[in-house]
Amino acid sequence: MVIFGATGDLTQRKLMPALYTLARIGMLPAESPVVGFARRPMTDVAFRREMAKSVLGDASAASDPRSWEDFAQRLFYVQADFHDPAGYKQLRETLERLDRERGTGGNRLFYLATAPELYGDIVARLGEHQLVQRPNPDADRPWTRVIVEKPFGRDLASARELNRMLLRVFRESQIFRIDHYLGKETVQNILVFRFANGIFEPIWNQHYVDHVQITVAESIGVEGRAGYYETAGVVRDIIQSHMMQLLTLMAMESPVAIDPDAVRSEKVKVLRAARRIARAEVARHVVVGQYGPGAIDGQRVPGYRAEPRVAPGSRTPTFVAMRLFIDNWRWAGVPFYLRTGKRLPKRVTEVAVQFKRAPLPLFGDSAAGEPNLLALNIQPDEAISLRFVAKAPGTTMTLRPVDMGFRFGAAFGTEEMSAYERLLLDCLLGDSTLFTRRDEVEEAWDLVEPILSWWEPSTPPQPIPIYAAGTWGPEAAGSLVAGDNRRWREL
Ligand code: BG6
Repeated sequence: MVIFGATGDLTQRKLMPALYTLARIGMLPAESPVVGFARRPMTDVAFRREMAKSVLGDASAASDPRSWEDFAQRLFYVQADFHDPAGYKQLRETLERLDRERGTGGNRLFYLATAPELYGDIVARLGEHQLVQRPNPDADRPWTRVIVEKPFGRDLASARELNRMLLRVFRESQIFRIDHYLGKETVQNILVFRFANGIFEPIWNQHYVDHVQITVAESIGVEGRAGYYETAGVVRDIIQSHMMQLLTLMAMESPVAIDPDAVRSEKVKVLRAARRIARAEVARHVVVGQYGPGAIDGQRVPGYRAEPRVAPGSRTPTFVAMRLFIDNWRWAGVPFYLRTGKRLPKRVTEVAVQFKRAPLPLFGDSAAGEPNLLALNIQPDEAISLRFVAKAPGTTMTLRPVDMGFRFGAAFGTEEMSAYERLLLDCLLGDSTLFTRRDEVEEAWDLVEPILSWWEPSTPPQPIPIYAAGTWGPEAAGSLVAGDNRRWREL
């Protein structure tokens, strides 16, 4: 495995810890080496030391220093500029040497974890230096695969261009576009919940569902990533990727099989059916905001514009709420309300399905405000609950909403794999079900593009609403659903 951008944040925070864990639990063959490729001059030994610093910060790993030493022996480093042909020549020699010494048989996994503007160039150089083998229809090895980190492009045109560049060198079956939400157990469980149980699917449609709410709330701010975030904003950062994954899994039809093409084809159909919002209509369906100063858990926190490396007059949105329709038979007329933001009161990701009310208020009004609701809590309290109305004990017919619940932790009591561990393993095994296909990523961009262009610099500047950190976004987010006689879930 070769990691481009090996000294970066992602490698240190996610990739290396995930690889180390896979190695410790015996999921990564002892002989498979990991080669870091980056600009900073460093020896293999210095690279191992640097990785130890980031990984051993984790307490469970620190308790087992010997296993780190074993793991570190498989780390190597190639120093080069990403544009420099000499670097790729050196990389090729290193990989050939490792093949000989470790018997890795020419299998290659390239991980693009650099700044996204470098992806095209790196891929082209890999091709030029014969580092990529086309799949052989008669043998499944040696194989070459590439994992492409998000953001995959910054709009539809650049995503298409990146796909073109990748497909000049790789076949689609070799390309693994990663979205770490798909590595989360609770996200995968959406499929299992829907398609391994018989009782929910018959009511999972416009006849029974009033509306759906998907929330991806974060209490953290931009966290020193303003360099990236200033040019991305929340729509690129969360809506185009993670939110679209939750939406498609929630709304898709049953696939004919759980295999990469069957599952992804159904997800693409949802994106195609999602109604495009005309630019003139964006303000009616979409509310954006940016966090101002406020308090989270009683602690004062600065506003976005006061974060390091954010322009003082920045109009980058950190919050978005929107209404979306999926124009197919299953979902016609059912609004999907999506909201996500940074510096909201708490970290919570949830998919909630609100069902239509009982047809008659037989028991008077006391239960009228409480339709049935199914909530899939993706994180951090991984759970599923179904709300229904029950009779409160007593002489009168007083009704109360109650919850029936399932909690992952209590039910299984095992530690889950982290999203990156799961996805790295799937890629090594050649299973792309949990990765995004070319048409899927392009459809997702096509859908969000009108929302992006709304506040891009090329359009007449509009002031961005500011919400206090620690609140659920600008007031207009509430009005968006209140205008439809609905309200956001209190989470
Ligand atoms: C990343 C975004 O993809 O996902 C971050 O770039 C965000 O801005 C993160 O904080 C959220 O991931 P998780 O797993 O903590 O929900």
